[in-house]
Amino acid sequence: MRATYSFPPGFRWGTATASHQVEGGNTNNDWWAWEQQPSRIALGQSSGLACDWWGGRWKEDFDRAASGAQNAHRLSLEWSRIEPTPATWDESALGFYRELLRGARERGLVPMVTLNHFTLPIWLAERGGWTNEAIVGHFERFVRKAVAGLQDLVDTWVTINEPNLVAFLAHLTGVFPPGQHSLTATFNAIRNIVLAHAAAYHAIHEIQPQAQVGLAHHYRGLRPANPRSPLDRWIAHFREQIFNDAVAIAAHVGSLRLPGATQRVPKAARTQDFIGLNYYSTEQFGFNLLHPARALAVGTYPPGSDLSPSGFIANVPEGFWHALRWANGFGIPIIVTENGIEDPDDSIRPRYLATHIRVLWRAVNINWPVLGYYHWSLVDNFEWERGWTQRFGLWELDAVTQERRERPSARFYAEICRANGLSSDMVEHYAPEVLADLFPPAGEPELTRLVKR
Ligand code: BGC
Repeated sequence: MRATYSFPPGFRWGTATASHQVEGGNTNNDWWAWEQQPSRIALGQSSGLACDWWGGRWKEDFDRAASGAQNAHRLSLEWSRIEPTPATWDESALGFYRELLRGARERGLVPMVTLNHFTLPIWLAERGGWTNEAIVGHFERFVRKAVAGLQDLVDTWVTINEPNLVAFLAHLTGVFPPGQHSLTATFNAIRNIVLAHAAAYHAIHEIQPQAQVGLAHHYRGLRPANPRSPLDRWIAHFREQIFNDAVAIAAHVGSLRLPGATQRVPKAARTQDFIGLNYYSTEQFGFNLLHPARALAVGTYPPGSDLSPSGFIANVPEGFWHALRWANGFGIPIIVTENGIEDPDDSIRPRYLATHIRVLWRAVNINWPVLGYYHWSLVDNFEWERGWTQRFGLWELDAVTQERRERPSARFYAEICRANGLSSDMVEHYAPEVLADLFPPAGEPELTRLVKR
């Protein structure tokens, strides 16, 4: 069947990046310090020069995005550059971001800015980071400075990237700095992130009343490992509530439901103008009597999953549907702030892209208010504790020579952006193995096929 799944005019097609992952030379944050410690990062690697955006290579990467017909870009500010020591401001760093944002706009890329994407200035990490409530005031002060300085160039802000993930990885599984393994610290961090988000939301609206402000939520699809086991069902449900729901609901209704207590956080009520949704995959969780906290923290993929080369991500597009349905439940606009897969050889990315864009189209076409999609990521960049061992870019990067090479997915995504839609011709060319699934042959309606399975 020949067809095109078309998106509405004005749909935002972009890619997403984060300061520490692309800038290089960010030596004044907790991640840099973490990278200097032995065995924290895969193969002992470090962010180093990253994609050398600080050295100016953002220009060539934005050129790539623009020539690939993207009309939007999500990037983040590096707090440690703008406020290198408490309440001292580096105006030249703000100047850099002004130039970057102007550069994006000149190329037709409408910018969306994340105020905090995982990294903290060293001075703040030394004071307990997200586990110390003092961070709420510090964050608000930083946000006021950044927004006052950049408001003429940005109107869509993400306050904090993936509150759940940062709290879990930094304070429960310990793979992010400061490497804690404590449920109490995890819950403290979640609470302080909610409060910091709320303070930032109100501050931004005070400075820039028409701004659109939200959080980028990491929604992880969750299933019980054994659906017949009440304990597995319980742990999956428990994880769902803490990991997927707690922060988003707190920022919606002003009460934070964590095990043991529901806390009132009234200032957080109605502090999202949109739901930012990061979706990568769906995992299963099973109860583990010996390690209950581990069971809560670490999921697995069932045998036979369509896995990325390192096994980090399974291609589960129906989980994206659940994620969008979850997001739609909040009754406000949705922006897909991240979605992507690690794949150095581009062997699975084209079908991951095709199947996820198809799901996105379904949501848009039953009038769920999805405004845009940002693929993670434009160019390979520093993948946190996994260093350079995983490659999420549409463009491949040689971090030593700084050379970029276009992957087929970059061309595929450019065709999607240019057409403002996904056509059977594109899928046939880039991901023929899913053509029959996405564009079922005439006479075999998709519904019938699904029911038969
Ligand atoms: C993060 C990105 C990261 C991506 C892939 C997301 O959870 O926001 O910073 O690069 O996952 O690992």
